[in-house]
Amino acid sequence: MTIREAINKASLQLKTKQIDSPKLKARLLMQFLLDKDRQYLLVHDTEKLTLEQEKSFFNNTKKLIKGIPLQHITHGQEFMKMKFYVNKNVLIPRPDTEVLVEEVINIAKRINAKKILDLCTGSGAIAVALAKSIEGSEITATDISDKALEIAEINAKNNGVDRQIAFLQSDLFDDIPSEKYDIIVSNPPYIKKDVIKKLQKEVQNEPILALDGGYDGLKFYYKIVQQADEFLKYKGYLCLEIGYDQKSDVLELIDKQDKYTGTYCKKDLYGNDRIIITKVGD
Ligand SMILES: C[S@@+](CC[C@H](N)C(=O)[O-])C[C@H]1O[C@@H](n2cnc3c(N)ncnc32)[C@H](O)[C@@H]1O
Repeated sequence: MTIREAINKASLQLKTKQIDSPKLKARLLMQFLLDKDRQYLLVHDTEKLTLEQEKSFFNNTKKLIKGIPLQHITHGQEFMKMKFYVNKNVLIPRPDTEVLVEEVINIAKRINAKKILDLCTGSGAIAVALAKSIEGSEITATDISDKALEIAEINAKNNGVDRQIAFLQSDLFDDIPSEKYDIIVSNPPYIKKDVIKKLQKEVQNEPILALDGGYDGLKFYYKIVQQADEFLKYKGYLCLEIGYDQKSDVLELIDKQDKYTGTYCKKDLYGNDRIIITKVGD
């Protein structure tokens, strides 16, 4: 079977099973199999696959049909133009989160922030992207999951910023040394418990620990907003990613604490409310 025939066949199988973007996914699986770019496939589409390659390609197609995310098969995701290794133990970094990272970079450059805490780091996407963009930054990246932290460390090494990031296992602030940071950033789990089972199969195959925000989706914001000021310098920033429908709830949590000021929200590229920024002070 040629490259083109295999892609067409897989694409049809995916389409029949209502997998979205079937053509693109079939092509990306082929690129992964052959370790080649799109251009190569276009030029060599009549090249024959070996039987072994064919078997491996259609095995991976089956995995997609079972709902395994493409990125868990190819072990890769681009974020902020950098490559991240991912597996079943970490959330696949999303383009929405780039809005948060870009805002934190702007703030850090404006206030000359160097000490940054990334809570709930997962694959390390936020911490690594910040370390890469903020010269001289010292970042502490934490997660409750040791398996996620292993992946985050791999990503820091692969992107050449491992010396700027300290990794620490902690249930939110529980094991964080009492230091003061210029910025605390977090993309915590924020999906309502009973919504998780209604999500696409692919998302449900991501770690539950990365999704589950409790019965109202706000469990983590409540704790973070309550404690962050103890770990922030005066006028230090708290920067949070939120779900598209959580703006008013998170603003209310922040308001109730009566210790933050200058709070604002920004939208993502799709026009959804996506990040909330606030700072310690009156
Ligand atoms: C939504 S994912 C975010 C991953 C990454 N920061 C990103 O933006 O792609 C949330 C992460 O929070 C971690 N987590 C869940 N409960 C936690 C807790 N109690 N303390 C610290 N991290 C926790 C999960 O392991 C997961 O890696």
